[in-house]
Amino acid sequence: MTIQNRRVVMRQHPQGEVGAGDFEMQSAALPGLSDGDILVRNLYLSLDPYMRLRMRPGRSYQPPMQVGDIMPAQTVGEVIESRAASVPKGALVVARAGWQDYAAVPAASVRVIDAALGPVSTALGVLGMPGVTAHYGLLHLGRPKPGQTVVVSAASGAVGSIVGQIAKLKGCRAVGIAGGEKKCRYVVEELGFDACVDYRSPDFQKQLEAATPDRVDVDFENVGGMVMDAVLSRLNDYARVVLCGVISDYEAPIQDGARNAATNGVTRVRELLVNRASLQAFIISEHPEHWAPAFADLAQWLKEGKIKYREDIAQGLENAPAAFMKMLKGGNFGKQLVKLQ
Ligand SMILES: NC(=O)c1ccc[n+]([C@@H]2O[C@H](COP(=O)([O-])OP(=O)(O)OC[C@H]3O[C@@H](n4cnc5c(N)ncnc54)[C@H](OP(=O)(O)O)[C@@H]3O)[C@@H](O)[C@H]2O)c1
Repeated sequence: MTIQNRRVVMRQHPQGEVGAGDFEMQSAALPGLSDGDILVRNLYLSLDPYMRLRMRPGRSYQPPMQVGDIMPAQTVGEVIESRAASVPKGALVVARAGWQDYAAVPAASVRVIDAALGPVSTALGVLGMPGVTAHYGLLHLGRPKPGQTVVVSAASGAVGSIVGQIAKLKGCRAVGIAGGEKKCRYVVEELGFDACVDYRSPDFQKQLEAATPDRVDVDFENVGGMVMDAVLSRLNDYARVVLCGVISDYEAPIQDGARNAATNGVTRVRELLVNRASLQAFIISEHPEHWAPAFADLAQWLKEGKIKYREDIAQGLENAPAAFMKMLKGGNFGKQLVKLQ
């Protein structure tokens, strides 16, 4: 039987904000499998901010995408055909399959999921890359001590929501920053943060000061720009800035001369100096040794009801571009996924 496969490719490099015209849906017959490969029917597609970085031309931590490349993504899927003894037909796997309904991938490149740990979609969120990012960034780079204050931006999102909850488990004061009252209420009332500040509110800086009376020991930075600048003004002596992401900058125009202060307003570098603070950036895929211990902790906390998660699920591959564009503007509320089948 020949399977027709739909996939989404990058039609052109976006100029500034991503638009529908930057994507193209294609359809093609699936090629046969080689020895060692498996055929995966994708069930959920993960949409993540890093994909926007990959769409930018120029130097980055990975080579940029070329026009015509399939959009990158991790998926959760079911193995429907296998030419590898290690991953049999019927297994559920996380694969770097991209934005498509099916994918033929090497069996050695996938992670087999234990479905007993939770709904399979969690393998792309709390029990997946975002969860490990939160765990590694906070515990290994942030090194929070009980009683210290941890601030995290994009606090209702996939990474930020887990950072604040781990901070609470470690006896810290957890302060979130998020866009809008609804997200802030969720962060405090559902996730148990001590406070959450809406960065869109006109007195954001004042609210942040009130929420951090003992200043800030760990800034888990997901946003950059004016949000990061405000947190820098609250640093404590020997604070740790964990630079996880700068999403406010991902859609900046390619010609950097046009950068504007609203998205790129990090000016308070002096605060790093006078507080003898450290700033460490990281990319979680470069720390494979940390994934298994992080999964062990996260699965245990999830089982014990000590951490919660939220998902925002779009329906159908054809709606992936719109869901991606929405996420980049903060329109998602929780881990952004696309349900494919
Ligand atoms: N270093 C790594 O290895 C690694 C791994 C995973 C993720 N990350 C980074 O972690 C960050 C969060 O990723 P995620 O997957 O958890 O996404 P997410 O928080 O679930 O979704 C993105 C959120 O970013 C916020 N946002 C978007 N544009 C913004 C802007 N201009 N200013 C302020 N906030 C904005 C929005 O929340 P609000 O509505 O609250 O603004 C939006 O909901 C991203 O920067 C991502 O690149 C890094």
